[in-house]
Amino acid sequence: MTAIDEIKARLNIVDLVSESVKLRRSGKNYTGFCPFHGNSRTPAFAVFPDSGTWRCFGECNEGGDIFKFYMKKEGWDFPETLRYLADRAGVQLEPLTPERQAAGEEHERLRALLEEAVTFFRHQLSTPAGADALAYLKKRGLTPETIEAFGLGYAPDRWDAALGYFTGKGYNAEEMLAVGLVTERQGGGGVYDRFRNRIMFPIRDGVGKMAGFGARILNPDDVPKFLNSPQTVLFDKGHLLYGLDAARKAIRTQDQVVIVEGYLDVIALHQGGFPNTVSPMGTALTEDQLRLLKRFTRRMVLALDADAAGEKATLRGLEVARQSLDREDELVFDARGLLRHEARLQADVRVTTLPEGMDPDEVVLRDPAEWQTILEQARPVVIHVMETLAARANVDDPKVKAEIAAQIFPLIEDVPSPIERDAYRQRLARLLKVDERALLETAPAPARPARRPGMRPPARQKPARTFADAAGLIHALEAHALQLLLRQPDAVYLVDRALQAAGLSRFSPDDFEHMDHQLLARTILAALAQEDLEPQAYIHEHTPENLAPLLAGLTEPMKMGEPNDEKRTEDLIDTVMRLRDTRLHENVNQLRYLQEEVQQQGEMRFDAYQKLISEYSLAIQRLNRARKSPVQLDE
Ligand code: UTP
Ligand code: MN
Repeated sequence: MTAIDEIKARLNIVDLVSESVKLRRSGKNYTGFCPFHGNSRTPAFAVFPDSGTWRCFGECNEGGDIFKFYMKKEGWDFPETLRYLADRAGVQLEPLTPERQAAGEEHERLRALLEEAVTFFRHQLSTPAGADALAYLKKRGLTPETIEAFGLGYAPDRWDAALGYFTGKGYNAEEMLAVGLVTERQGGGGVYDRFRNRIMFPIRDGVGKMAGFGARILNPDDVPKFLNSPQTVLFDKGHLLYGLDAARKAIRTQDQVVIVEGYLDVIALHQGGFPNTVSPMGTALTEDQLRLLKRFTRRMVLALDADAAGEKATLRGLEVARQSLDREDELVFDARGLLRHEARLQADVRVTTLPEGMDPDEVVLRDPAEWQTILEQARPVVIHVMETLAARANVDDPKVKAEIAAQIFPLIEDVPSPIERDAYRQRLARLLKVDERALLETAPAPARPARRPGMRPPARQKPARTFADAAGLIHALEAHALQLLLRQPDAVYLVDRALQAAGLSRFSPDDFEHMDHQLLARTILAALAQEDLEPQAYIHEHTPENLAPLLAGLTEPMKMGEPNDEKRTEDLIDTVMRLRDTRLHENVNQLRYLQEEVQQQGEMRFDAYQKLISEYSLAIQRLNRARKSPVQLDE
């Protein structure tokens, strides 16, 4: 038994969930209002003690084990959740393997090198060579204390300043390359300094450990304007936020984080009395970054410059966003993407617009009170987009009204809360100066079928299998799918083609409800998305330490003998479909149970459950058609 299984066996999911959700017994199971979406009419959230799982049949349509529950509720990552639950269960986690320990020690040495680099670059500011850089920072309004606090520095205008210094300190070229301080000469003739004649911004992770550098030009003619450390073992742009180590406390106490776009903006705002500020590093905001922030607060304000705010709200921006909707890993820094982040993370994301042509650092240096006002004027994403669109258009023109409405409706549909949706529709009607009912008539038909009146006779059918059986089957199918995938990761593409050809959604980590399985699935997909390593090597290197025993078990030779490539793909496609089929049936069974309960107690929620059952039944039919007539994949 792995530590994860043992934790699950020892902890009672009902007790754990009850700490934050009011549950009511319903037969063998428990129901309540989903903590992840706002709804107080239908208790669409259910906990199944037999299988140790939970599910929201409502808007979230999501479920999983206790790990998933805590990760979602607290915004923790898997290792954190594992530590927490292991502690509560009294399960001792295995110490690190020697390989991981060695990797950890290697990382420590590289971090030490980066720390020395901070000192080295900082020292340069006090030399004659660094005088211009220091003067520039002062001209940008930074005090000596701020420069010191953020560890700012200067990289000399030479090819071998850092190289020479760190060689003298006993570091070799390989180590300097590993942290991105030097670059390899074309054709392999040694290495040279990566950062030359630049202002250096040390970038640390959330707890203050060095990760890399951002470097700004001093000479306006140089390019690029900003040069970051390359992707290294310590520097992963998508997972870091500049300033978080200094901001985390303030974010927590103020229960708000402000996200700006530049390093100097972060620094000037901290100096100006707004220490709850962070920024990404020249990349779009990722969901990982938002997840990281959510550990400290749900309330997030994005400060976009006037140009970007306008552009991101234009028609084209929204179109592009819609096209990328199916690809989870391509969520972008635009209205639609933001709304999805917001909904999934249960966050409150607001957008604020800066005065034309100004960056936050200029605003706060001019007048801190002005910055405060700007923050207070931050608006929900949907309102921000509708007002930005309306402000730039002639809303007296009926054509323009229709166009704006067509742009905003999909956004409103993405908002999980019906109350908010209503409010946004009203606001849009007012903004466009049209009657709300007229506006609704132009709206596209809602995705879900309308609720039919009248109560259907109760479904008396007993579930075909018991919950425990289905839970065991789901666990086994998930494991088998992973077993096959681990042998041939790129078979995912064939699975996707088969699913898509049948009109079903693509394969996704959400096909797995056990969090450890889901994480392995994520690692497999990540392995396919990178090009540095063979997928299998990547998987072994990037599987979280605690999942190593699971991975080892799944990659062991199969008892029944290893299938050939063709059989394996067939088996994989069928396993994924069976997994979906089992889960859908399971959902229907569970809903019927809940339905019977409310029926017996004379409640009126019957219909709501019936509607969900019909939806799941349709999905089952679609899936069965796909399984009966497998698509020919070999072209
Ligand atoms: P800006 O060009 O707006 O710079 O880029 P800035 O932060 O306002 O800098 P100053 O005020 O001119 O000194 C915003 C952010 O985008 C990233 C950097 O993180 C920068 O802080 N960026 C920009 C890059 O990564 N590379 C670039 O070439 C430009
Ligand atoms: Mn700027």
